[in-house]
Amino acid sequence: MHHNYSYQTALAASDRINWKIEDLIGGDKKLDFTKPFMPESLAQVKQLSFLTDEEKKTLNQIRGHEYLSMFGLVEEFILPYVVDHARPKLSGDDYRVRALLKFAGEEAKHIHLFKRFRQEFENDFGSQCDFIGPAEDISRFVLGHSSLGVGIAVLHIEWITLRHYIEGVQDNQDLDPQFKNLLKSHWLEESQHTKLDTLMIEELVRNATSQEIDQAFKEYGEIGAFLDQGIQQQAEFDVESFVRATGRNLSKSEREETNQAVLKGMRWTYLGTGMTHQNFLDTVEAIKPAARKQIEEMAPMFC
Ligand SMILES: [Fe+2]
Ligand SMILES: [Fe+2]
Repeated sequence: MHHNYSYQTALAASDRINWKIEDLIGGDKKLDFTKPFMPESLAQVKQLSFLTDEEKKTLNQIRGHEYLSMFGLVEEFILPYVVDHARPKLSGDDYRVRALLKFAGEEAKHIHLFKRFRQEFENDFGSQCDFIGPAEDISRFVLGHSSLGVGIAVLHIEWITLRHYIEGVQDNQDLDPQFKNLLKSHWLEESQHTKLDTLMIEELVRNATSQEIDQAFKEYGEIGAFLDQGIQQQAEFDVESFVRATGRNLSKSEREETNQAVLKGMRWTYLGTGMTHQNFLDTVEAIKPAARKQIEEMAPMFC
């Protein structure tokens, strides 16, 4: 892949960004439940014509809670992946070591950040929202694959956070300012992570046989299918949380329609936005052109 990424420039960019969790949430910095949290391009709830505007907003916020929980969860396996990649070579390239450890530190901060936002949400929302898990089991499943397989999945995940912010949040004046701040702050640091992920993958590919590369793409597919199973379960949880929060009595067909809308929104949010991301696909193509074609062929199921 043609790019000008380097450990040195990623580290320098990261050093210029310096936000703290306390700057974003806590004390008088509270979530504003009179506003939506997620951009409609990801939430996809407005089409549900049998819901009132108030109910659509509640469902949007439940999708927001799910987003906080989902990123909290995936970052649980990104952190050990990065630490494991850095560990065998802690001397030699000083920029590389510092950039990777900073990356790991930022991901630990993000886990904490998403957790704090989730606590605030749960304190003030007024009813319980369920989420799939436990995170340790999901982490264990994902990390049971080869480093390159995990690396490709992580690259997908990091690119989607950039796309979510740029396409749906940056110019959106309707969203809760605190939630918007969270997505902006996350995007600022993830912008370096995507570059570091690309560099890490290039290192892994340099030492991989063609069988190992084939295996890694197979594993990317397995991790994606596993996440999709979680997404299907979570879509049902989101609808259940909605019914609990609003007391709304949905007919069988309304419930089915709500479930389908949430599922479609979730698949686009976590899978489709990555499988159609140009930079992600460019890196895939540089490793194995046929893998790009395969991902592109599967993507419409998640868009
Ligand atoms: Fe992150
Ligand atoms: Fe990240």
